[in-house]
Amino acid sequence: MENRLEILRQRVDELVNLVQPDKKRYFFVHLYGVSHFAAILAIRRGLDPEIASICGMLHDISAVISGSYDNHAIKGAHEAKKILEDIDLFTTSENKIITTAISRHSDKENEHLPYDEILKDADVLHHCLYNPSYPVKNREQSRYSKLLIELGVNKKVLK
Ligand SMILES: [Fe+2]
Ligand SMILES: [Fe+2]
Repeated sequence: MENRLEILRQRVDELVNLVQPDKKRYFFVHLYGVSHFAAILAIRRGLDPEIASICGMLHDISAVISGSYDNHAIKGAHEAKKILEDIDLFTTSENKIITTAISRHSDKENEHLPYDEILKDADVLHHCLYNPSYPVKNREQSRYSKLLIELGVNKKVLK
């Protein structure tokens, strides 16, 4: 295959395809959705959209593999490291950026490094926009409001 993001996506697809049918759709939509939001935030913030996309594709990989969200950020960083080392298309420093972002993505209350924040923000955007009729969770309201302002879309979405 042609390109390392697509090679990584193929690997993620294989893992998602092993998930129970009722959960498969959400994982596909969520991982690709977070990957797309991460890319646009990276462009907005002058960072690399490919690396941000990889973070999005892999961020919940532990939940995909194990079926559980318990400590899935830390466990997911380990799973992602194994996949990235196996694919062997990313540098050591890229692997570090990606696995660090995954390990911190559940800590939405605190602020970390730029790629960590892109992943948290992309995750929140996807939770909030998956179905705009669903209420925004209290713990995501602040990040979501800031993101709508950053992206210049707040007037169109907020009532
Ligand atoms: Fe997560
Ligand atoms: Fe997520």
